[in-house]
Amino acid sequence: MDPLPPFYDDLAAFRAEAWRRLAEGAVTGRSPFHLPALATVDEAGRPRLRTVVLRDADGETGTLRFHCDARSDKARAIAAGSGVALHIYDAGAKLQVRIEGSARLHRDDAVAQAAWAGARAMSRVCYGIDPAPGTPLTEGGAYALPDEDPQARIGRENFCAVVVRAERLDLLYLDRRGHRRAVFSQEGEGWRGAWVAP
Ligand SMILES: Cc1cc2nc3c(=O)[nH]c(=O)nc-3n(C[C@H](O)[C@H](O)[C@H](O)COP(=O)(O)O)c2cc1C
Repeated sequence: MDPLPPFYDDLAAFRAEAWRRLAEGAVTGRSPFHLPALATVDEAGRPRLRTVVLRDADGETGTLRFHCDARSDKARAIAAGSGVALHIYDAGAKLQVRIEGSARLHRDDAVAQAAWAGARAMSRVCYGIDPAPGTPLTEGGAYALPDEDPQARIGRENFCAVVVRAERLDLLYLDRRGHRRAVFSQEGEGWRGAWVAP
């Protein structure tokens, strides 16, 4: 039988493992942590869920970043003050990570500028789509994407970096010898964590 992982009965190590996987997922396309599901709540209180690409995760600051189109429903919900949740399940690691927190849209500031500068040309053109995301079409292909733009301007006005500030983490590790689940909440500069029944 495999040895138990070092975080199995260690709360601080369990939280560190989640952030380590998140940071790794932000730069590793094949990691399940690269593609979290992002939940928001719309103006009628309905939950809305979609996949996003995780672009950055920083355990020190407790923040994560993804990018979206300012004209999208998720951007509208976040601008209206929706809380957010992220969900990842890594079947190889047998680890589920659930994150709840607040989100902030960055459109014109240094955060947005740095994120745009770091985005690839093929990603940037998506933000130039016409009409806006979610607009009804007469047929499936009745939309236009700009050509890749060496000046890196097209789509910039629609581009948003979204920074999520994690306020609560719920971690679940599956093991036949006994699952381990822990919940952490942000308290001042640090985190308070406790084991809970899985
Ligand atoms: C693999 C994958 C990655 C995606 N990455 C993003 C992303 O990083 N940002 C984004 O806004 N939408 C992304 N999408 C599209 C969203 O899941 C969603 O369909 C779209 O943004 C509209 O969402 P909304 O109407 O809820 O705003 C991705 C979809 C898939 C399947």
